[in-house]
Amino acid sequence: MNGRLQGKVVLITGAASGIGAHTARLFAAEGAHVVLSDINAEAGQRLAAELDAGFAAADVSVEAQVEAAVRYSVARHGRLDCMINNAGMIGVIGSILDTDAKDWDRTLAVLLDSVFYGIKHAGRQMRDQGGGGSILSLSSLAGVVGGVGPQVYSVAKAGVIAITRGAASELAHYNIRVNAVAPDLVVTPLVDQVYGDRAASTERAAAKSPLGSAAQPLEIAETLLYLASDAARHVSAHTVVVDSGLSTAGNSASALFHSREAGFLGKLPAQFQ
Ligand SMILES: NC(=O)c1ccc[n+]([C@@H]2O[C@H](COP(=O)([O-])OP(=O)(O)OC[C@H]3O[C@@H](n4cnc5c(N)ncnc54)[C@H](O)[C@@H]3O)[C@@H](O)[C@H]2O)c1
Repeated sequence: MNGRLQGKVVLITGAASGIGAHTARLFAAEGAHVVLSDINAEAGQRLAAELDAGFAAADVSVEAQVEAAVRYSVARHGRLDCMINNAGMIGVIGSILDTDAKDWDRTLAVLLDSVFYGIKHAGRQMRDQGGGGSILSLSSLAGVVGGVGPQVYSVAKAGVIAITRGAASELAHYNIRVNAVAPDLVVTPLVDQVYGDRAASTERAAAKSPLGSAAQPLEIAETLLYLASDAARHVSAHTVVVDSGLSTAGNSASALFHSREAGFLGKLPAQFQ
């Protein structure tokens, strides 16, 4: 690896599985002092031990626990350079017409309140240690366009984009960058749960993708790595959409890109094929 995060202290929530776990491994390999956090203490501690990293058990829907995870990172490494608000779940599914207010509240607490807590407590720490830092949060394509995710999940992920923009303009004063990543389907345990198993989620993700292959969690970790690194020192307030071009190509994207065999592209001049 290239030491692109050499010496940086990085706290990752939801680090026991999927995108968070791949990010922890990649960031550690790039020289970061990684601190893992998760509500699943057993899996989180196991990965932390493997990476020789710290672990802070926390439910991200509880502000005091997110704050404690930030404090733990600073106690262990003396500072915090990067916070990744990654923990998440699908939450309540189904029609808005049938959604209970308590399920709405719980889903927003885990997916959106958590990001507010992470930005608030990591931002305070970064300000108080003299400024500088990168705060990253997981949004979703469901927060960018309508109709691709469960209703409340989509609201929460749109909120992540909004707080990213707002916090970025406020915290720029302290040289703190705030960005988000919005993937479409990525093959992780979260998506396996929705489609039944790994084979089914891989097939679904590949079928949806204009590029014809399923996005893997390491690819999202690589996007986070760029945003966390000094290479992105002038990138702030943005949400990087990682969706193989789906959202801008529209519903016909898969049909268009997969129609080579059917001859669609064969009718175009060679330079466009
Ligand atoms: N996989 C996808 O297709 C996809 C697409 C877009 C966005 N995302 C987002 O990426 C993030 C990571 O998702 P993933 O696919 O890696 O899922 P995952 O289920 O593999 O991992 C999520 C982790 O979050 C933890 N977690 C859940 N609730 C928590 C809580 N209240 N407090 C602390 N930790 C909690 C889980 O224990 C788990 O380790 C989520 O925010 C998700 O919404 C995922």
